[in-house]
Amino acid sequence: MMYSREFIQQVEQAADIVSVVSERGVALRKTGSTYKALCPFHSEKTASFNVNPQRGFFHCFGCGIGGSAIKFVMEYDKLPFVEALEELADRFSIPLEKTTSSSAKEQSEDRLLTALEHATEFYHLFLTQQSAGETGRQYLQNRSIPLPTWEIFKIGFVPEQWQLLVENLTSRGFSNSELIQAGLAKSSPKSGRPYDTFRNRIIFPIRDIRGRCIAFGGRTIDADQQPKYLNSPETKYYHKSQILYGFFEGREAIKKKRKLILVEGYLDVTRLHQFGFPEAVATCGTSLTADHVRFAQRYVDRVILLLDGDQAGQAAAWRSCPLFLSGRLEASVATLPVGEDPDSFLLTHGGEKFSELLQRDTPVFEYLVQQCLAKHSSNVQGRMKAIEELLPMIGEIFDETIKNMAITHLAELIHLPEATILEKAAKYLRKPHKHDTLENFHSTDSVSIEIQEEKRLLQVLLHFRRFITLAREFLDVNEFQTPHFRQLYKQFLQFSDQEFHTKAIEELEHQIPDLYSEIMKLYMEGMPPEYSEADFKRLIRQIKERILKWQRDEKLASLSDEEKLHANIEFRKKKQALDKIYPHR
Ligand code: UTP
Ligand code: MN
Repeated sequence: MMYSREFIQQVEQAADIVSVVSERGVALRKTGSTYKALCPFHSEKTASFNVNPQRGFFHCFGCGIGGSAIKFVMEYDKLPFVEALEELADRFSIPLEKTTSSSAKEQSEDRLLTALEHATEFYHLFLTQQSAGETGRQYLQNRSIPLPTWEIFKIGFVPEQWQLLVENLTSRGFSNSELIQAGLAKSSPKSGRPYDTFRNRIIFPIRDIRGRCIAFGGRTIDADQQPKYLNSPETKYYHKSQILYGFFEGREAIKKKRKLILVEGYLDVTRLHQFGFPEAVATCGTSLTADHVRFAQRYVDRVILLLDGDQAGQAAAWRSCPLFLSGRLEASVATLPVGEDPDSFLLTHGGEKFSELLQRDTPVFEYLVQQCLAKHSSNVQGRMKAIEELLPMIGEIFDETIKNMAITHLAELIHLPEATILEKAAKYLRKPHKHDTLENFHSTDSVSIEIQEEKRLLQVLLHFRRFITLAREFLDVNEFQTPHFRQLYKQFLQFSDQEFHTKAIEELEHQIPDLYSEIMKLYMEGMPPEYSEADFKRLIRQIKERILKWQRDEKLASLSDEEKLHANIEFRKKKQALDKIYPHR
């Protein structure tokens, strides 16, 4: 996307550089006609960072960095030029220039966004104006979602029909392939005809920071319909691991307060907004990732994690907290009573009680310590185990000062001399910062089916060690598709059944040190209390059958018709053989 010189100048003139700099937490002091501060780009003790509001620029005499407000945002928020420009245009209410798309590629991209925009409008009008929208209106009323919320979030509705949206957008000239690329339609495996992705659902448009609709979340209005929430597939605009629902709608408050409240669901976001907490955001059908945290860091200094009071919510908090250790955000956890989510809490107890609850938050590191201590017994062994679990996390803390404070703090909480902890910590503290593994792991979280299944299998193995015998018998290392999990599985198989069965998690740490933190994360994510042998076999079958299908499909493309027939027969035979492990449903 190209903007004209005039537009760039217009933004530079409108952008008040003093606001831009101080809104990002740099404490400016006025000295005559200019402002001074400690430079945010290098570390110094006397202020050599200068801002000149008349000329609209900044300069640091210490490190030499300087330029316009756009340059400042590029450096400070780590944004490319165009995004920094758009960010400032948004901040100072300058409408984005309509550029004429140059290349054919850009034009087709614009068409996808236009299709999504039309769909938003279509669903919203259906909810607000059509007589067939009555079911949707009734649902929202029953859930006490007021009209202004419908408008702010452009909530929509689509009844149970197969091609309402497809027909509408086709009549506007969109092709089937465009609708499929935008995630709005799927093609029927039988007839090849497209049908609507979202049916019989309340529709929540998901917008990017510029307010463009890039995806939808749809909630069923029918208790029997699965899944409860359906999310758009990933497209070139929609990356689940990066987008926070509600950010656009709450952006002004968020940038002003420099704070986010992170909740789990779409409806939690809209409810918080309604009760005067527009800084609420949620991930869209995935757990929090390092990308989300990096995104948040551009705009805010604080994050409160507010997760459901149930076990899944607590498990999510435990998983998300370590992501904040390595960054510069001040993060804390607020806990809801068991059985409540933010939405239900606000409806029953109101905004005031909710504020009180937020004020009783616990900093993430302390939260991790508390959870960890609660999990282990309070005797010396238990405390040592807790420390062993916490130390790798301390190793992740980026800032040395904070890292040292965390150690002191841990020593106090756990009633052990600091020296003992330091001694234990030595090996983690020397380690280089393991940013990459942590990020990779989290960004693969809950994406494709193979990752989910393979991860689950390893989790079950960690919790129910006796299943290693079955796994070894039926599942080969090469049947793992995710390199990361294949590696872990391979390591597990290097132990004898007996050994693996009796090993404590701590011993795995010593024997597979590189993968230890990955094992810990898997282990911590929790597991149903019982997992039967049949359940486990079914899981193995799922994985094997998927591989078979995948191998067949790989082959089919390059075969003649007769060969195809053979490949299909072979596939069916192999599939039947799987009935020995677990019978076909
Ligand atoms: P919840 O099951 O807690 O639902 O899922 P909720 O947000 O409280 O919604 P209501 O109140 O029952 O309507 C929390 C979030 O997890 C994702 C959605 O983003 C949802 O908002 N989710 C849940 C899915 O992606 N798919 C599902 O099937 C369920
Ligand atoms: Mn809910």
